[in-house]
Amino acid sequence: MQGVFITGTSTEIGKTFIGVAIATALTKRDIKVIPRKPIESGCTRNDAELIPQDAAALKQAASYQGPLSEVCPYRFEPPVSPVRAAHLADKILTTEQLAGICMEGSEQGFLLVEGAGGFYSPLAKDGLNADLAVALQLPVLLVADDRLGALSQVLLNVEAIKMRGLPLAGVVLNQLDTDQNDHMDNSADLRERLDCPLFTMPYSKQGVATEADALIDALMLPCKPKGPHIRAVG
Ligand SMILES: Nc1ncnc2c1ncn2[C@@H]1O[C@H](COP(=O)(O)OP(=O)(O)OP(=O)(O)O)[C@@H](O)[C@H]1O
Ligand SMILES: [Mg+2]
Repeated sequence: MQGVFITGTSTEIGKTFIGVAIATALTKRDIKVIPRKPIESGCTRNDAELIPQDAAALKQAASYQGPLSEVCPYRFEPPVSPVRAAHLADKILTTEQLAGICMEGSEQGFLLVEGAGGFYSPLAKDGLNADLAVALQLPVLLVADDRLGALSQVLLNVEAIKMRGLPLAGVVLNQLDTDQNDHMDNSADLRERLDCPLFTMPYSKQGVATEADALIDALMLPCKPKGPHIRAVG
């Protein structure tokens, strides 16, 4: 199965922003993208329907012809973790169910899955984001805020991804604001310690990634990355 599982060092870190950029760039190159955000909380209400914003953005970026319910069947209104939101709605969801949603029709293209929260955030009653990534056996793309403190967050996440036996598709250092520390160079510091594609996504005033083509080239998508993740840590 070809694809990528997008996770982040935290919530609100740019997973959807990067997912939209990847889906847009791949679609532009005539690669069919199958977007999946199997469970989304914090959905907005439109009359009787709950609208999953992330799933809708990914569907649009991928020009996906299927219904939004295929991209995201499990939607919840409270802006809390998906597991808590499901619990509040008296729903029990399993990793197997979420994996099934992701895999349905995935052989037809490049499967782009966005988790919720971070790699170790609970996603189902019986599993974390990490467990869904393992069930899908997808390379993991890690999105981190390009700020002071990112090095430890990235290396911890990379170690966790490695421990789960998953390939690391790459790390995106996402500049979530314009306020960058001139003396900081997370990319150079990570390059010394990681053996994987690294990309710095600049802040975009328009909220739309201008570097989508450069991003998929740097990540060598849609190729499946191989090789060791960590050269040295410490
Ligand atoms: N490089 C960037 N430049 C400008 N705005 C950005 C950038 N990256 C992300 N954003 C903005 O930051 C906010 C959070 O990003 P996004 O929704 O992609 O995070 P997320 O990790 O998907 O969040 P969630 O955990 O809720 O799914 C959004 O408003 C998004 O447009
Ligand atoms: Mg998101």
